[in-house]
Amino acid sequence: MTFIDLRDRYGITQIVTEEDPGVGREWVIQVEGTVVERENKNAKMTTGEIEIKLDKLNILNKAQTPPFTIEELSDGGEDIRAKYRYLDLRRAPLQRALALRHRLAQEIRTYLDGQGFMEIETPYLIKSTPEGARDFVVPSRMNPGEFYALPQSPQTFKQLLMVAGYDRYFQIVRCFRDEDLRADRQPEFTQIDCEMSFVEQEDVLNTFEGMMRTMFKNALGVDIPNPLPRMCWYDAMDNYGSDKPDVRFDMKIHEISELVKGKGFGVFDGAEYIGAIAVKGCAEYTRKQLDELTEWVKRPQVGAKGLVYIKLGAEGIKSSVDKFYTPDELKKVAAAAGAGEGDLVLILCGAKRKTQTQLGVLRIEMGNRLGLRDPHNFAPLWVVDFPLLEWDDETQRFYAMHHPFTAPKPEHLDWFYSDKKEDLERVCANAYDFVLNGTELGGGSIRIHNADMQSRMFEVLGIGKEEAEYKFGFIINAFKFGAPPHGGLAFGFDRVCALFGGQETIRDYIAFPKNNMGRDVMI
Ligand code: AMO
Repeated sequence: MTFIDLRDRYGITQIVTEEDPGVGREWVIQVEGTVVERENKNAKMTTGEIEIKLDKLNILNKAQTPPFTIEELSDGGEDIRAKYRYLDLRRAPLQRALALRHRLAQEIRTYLDGQGFMEIETPYLIKSTPEGARDFVVPSRMNPGEFYALPQSPQTFKQLLMVAGYDRYFQIVRCFRDEDLRADRQPEFTQIDCEMSFVEQEDVLNTFEGMMRTMFKNALGVDIPNPLPRMCWYDAMDNYGSDKPDVRFDMKIHEISELVKGKGFGVFDGAEYIGAIAVKGCAEYTRKQLDELTEWVKRPQVGAKGLVYIKLGAEGIKSSVDKFYTPDELKKVAAAAGAGEGDLVLILCGAKRKTQTQLGVLRIEMGNRLGLRDPHNFAPLWVVDFPLLEWDDETQRFYAMHHPFTAPKPEHLDWFYSDKKEDLERVCANAYDFVLNGTELGGGSIRIHNADMQSRMFEVLGIGKEEAEYKFGFIINAFKFGAPPHGGLAFGFDRVCALFGGQETIRDYIAFPKNNMGRDVMI
């Protein structure tokens, strides 16, 4: 093979031979030569400072022209890049993403090893774990008609390891959940799963706050507050309309029911709850923008029935409900929502928690529109004191808010053993979530470690004695053999990586992810 041409910007990538004069072809080459300083340096290129004076060039393999350009921002569409994932993975952003993932995994192992944690693997072919999603199942050839479930988490196994005396366990482990997929959800994802014996909530929070602090410092050079702020679940819901509040910006939710009821506006008069947010500097929103926002909150994803506004413009107060309220009354409402001149107040009403949640979604949207959610500004916190149980109207039964192994707070035990629905609704759990920038990065709890209390929990959840014995007999039994008090948590590792990388989508932090339909279109 004779080389008749050898040129490009760097002098080596485009090769045309007599046998194969195809233009734009790529090759895998091996070169020998001398690295010399470039005459015309190009600071924009990684290799822009040097040149190689060739002595020898060897073609190792040919390459077809890739179906999309492999560069920082590729012009390939999502589908084509997914089909050629191995080419997409050559792009620098993905290389950086996976390098960050690797770095964080090393940091986690070093930190936990230093704290006396032991990494122990648990099985993938198991009996169902109740984390609230559907299981993926695997048929058993040796036992026709029977199936294994893939673990939604190693929850029961890590608790059994505590009974077995391995009192500081962790695992960077794959979990499988058959649920609707979103930007931060994959059917198989990775947890940093941890459990400790002889601990209280405080010990768990301190240990894992320390882990996150080390990861932030060592991987990003970022210092997070010490100690991290903590917010009670009820405050998170009341003020942010979410159990994963984004505290990078204020725009808190304010209840205004008392101020607006009884003035003849039927929609408010009949509502259980009326809440507002103040959007700074948006008094000049046009009719068109407000109509668009109203349509936005009415979308099924938000589910509000309508939107009421108050604009505190330079030329006075304007509102969609000024028929029912005097300017003075509107001013009071605006002040209660934390709005001043130049601001826009957005109001929703309905059932309390539902409306707060809708306001929470609207708050995030306004935060996005106003550029208040800088992904490189990190605001982590713990959300604590979750309710133990959640009532479901449709099925008329309680569900565990975290999972059925979570312990009620000791001071709420009377309510836990009460038969009254309103007592059970009041029971709080020693459960906690690690929240970063509006995403739940991790969650856990102090567990039930006593067989009787675990049986009571199943009873509260409407799981009969026989069913509990059949499904969870192994763990109830284990608790009879001197189970230590224990607790732990799991972080979603893919989410941790994505947020550290300044992204909300986890897909680029997984080498071979599934698309929104749960498919890997490459294979
Ligand atoms: P939980 O169900 O809250 O708790 O899960 C822990 C963390 O895992 C991440 N996560 C996911 N990440 C990507 N895709 C998914 N489909 C997905 N589902 C969950 C989240 C979440 O915070 N066994 C308990 C933990 C414990 O109590 O110790 C558990 O699994 O970041």
